[in-house]
Amino acid sequence: MRRFLSALLTTLAVAASLHAQPAPRQAVTAKQGMVTCVSPPAAEAGSKILQKGGNAVDAAVTVAFAMAVTYPSAGNIGGGGFMLIHPPAGEPTVIEYREAAPAAATADMFVKNRDPLTHRAAGVPGTVRGLEMAFKKYGSGKVTWAEVVEPAIQLAESWPLEAWSARSLTRLVRESPKHPEFCRCFGKPGGGEWKAGDILRQPDLAKTLRAIAERGSAGFYTGPVAEMIEKEMKAGGGLITQADLAAYQAKERPAIHGTYRGYDVWGASPPSSGGIGIVEMLNMLEGHDLKSLGADTPARWHLTAEVMKRAFRDRARWIGDPDFVTVPTNLIEKPYARSLMSTFDPNKATPSASLAGDITIAPEPENTTHFSIVDAEGRGVSNTYTLEESYGSRVVVRGAGFILNNEMLDFNHIPGVTTQKGKVGTPANLVAPGKRMLSSQTPTILAKGGKPVLVTGSPGGRTIINTVLCIVTNVVDFDMDVQAAVDFPRIHHQWLPDEIRLERYPDRQELVAGLEKLGHKVTRHQPSRFQGDGHSVWIAPDGTRHGAADRRIMGKAAGY
Ligand code: DON
Repeated sequence: MRRFLSALLTTLAVAASLHAQPAPRQAVTAKQGMVTCVSPPAAEAGSKILQKGGNAVDAAVTVAFAMAVTYPSAGNIGGGGFMLIHPPAGEPTVIEYREAAPAAATADMFVKNRDPLTHRAAGVPGTVRGLEMAFKKYGSGKVTWAEVVEPAIQLAESWPLEAWSARSLTRLVRESPKHPEFCRCFGKPGGGEWKAGDILRQPDLAKTLRAIAERGSAGFYTGPVAEMIEKEMKAGGGLITQADLAAYQAKERPAIHGTYRGYDVWGASPPSSGGIGIVEMLNMLEGHDLKSLGADTPARWHLTAEVMKRAFRDRARWIGDPDFVTVPTNLIEKPYARSLMSTFDPNKATPSASLAGDITIAPEPENTTHFSIVDAEGRGVSNTYTLEESYGSRVVVRGAGFILNNEMLDFNHIPGVTTQKGKVGTPANLVAPGKRMLSSQTPTILAKGGKPVLVTGSPGGRTIINTVLCIVTNVVDFDMDVQAAVDFPRIHHQWLPDEIRLERYPDRQELVAGLEKLGHKVTRHQPSRFQGDGHSVWIAPDGTRHGAADRRIMGKAAGY
């Protein structure tokens, strides 16, 4: 209940700032490079690396390490994610650094105890190996590893809190009496409330980052930091061992590819469902003249919701770690999309149950973060990474200063038990030693003629895929500029429960009535009134970079 109230207060505060915003912002423009992310000091650090001659991958590594310090609710070295890299010309690739189940994990380990704020909820972190792989394979070679990690070390030594971070940390510390190390690292020395401008010092984290700067990922996965992680796990009943850490590898995987009205669409491959989901939905939409329906009408959102529910049914049925399960290749093929839409009725909602009956999905908590970068050569990096919930498991590794994820809860919990009420037990995403858990992270790049034009993505659990769908169709079908496309109200349908969740509900009574008339149940996002934050970059035909930070949350577009 306390956690629910806390989440409610956070999200209401952010939503209030969304509604307080008098008018949509203009995108920030720049000629050469652009970084958009939720944390202003991280965006500035990334932009400086670009200005030093680093490319978008170098800058992404800097932003990711910096946000592990300045956005501890989701930025991380104790979690994992997906980085989609599009070269200035040619085909992109995915660096997949999703967390993995420890060797001692079992399929039924969450049947009885699903407490997300425990050591056993943590998967083997992937971020540091992933960032190192991206840097080594796709960095410019013009800046050193130590240089890209350095801004994070400096921020860990001393970071002046923004108002949002001060409020968030004050509340989380107050609510985490069972996590004393979290409180020691993130509480105000001497107690009391953090205020904007107060300096947060994270000396243990600075030491860990220094070990990474000096020894690369070996500074995290072996030696003193790995020993501290194992000790922490033993003390708290967690499963991760030094052997799990040493064995963890990031993986380079082929990006998911589709096309949409003349654009190439590139996305993250499994174990994320994001790339397949976005391509499958765009394929379904392509057979329809979306633009003629109007941008914010019952007809547009009816069609969109119908597409979403069909793709989410397939997500639950088929997608998991491709090293453990076979994901059908036809999910992203156009004839398959046409067959799915044979049951679409423009005048009536298709009941979700009639699409698959026996599979349903449990609710998923929040917090993740996404950033988009374009460099002077036109290379795009779209990166989403996460601790799963806000501040992950709240388990801070003693002596190492970083928070561990609780990503293990992204696995299906009870093998074989899939109910209409919200339990999923389908085989594709059951826990197994070494397996990566299914994700919805959807770092996405649209390209034309082999060159990136839109770099986008979002946090938001399963809403992520739908947020990206809204942004992409706003740009492609409704010709919105990137800031308008990001700011525009979004919708979410995840197949089950069979309902459309609207932003700014119930303020939009006409739209709600129109959708209800078509047979949809319409609800609002709970506890928040907003859906995701899609920091994006658009490259105009004249080469100008348009950076859109999402006004739903703090954030910055830093260009030069
Ligand atoms: O990987 C996933 O799909 C989830 N763990 C992401 C969670 C999330 O986005 C929550 N965010 N706001």
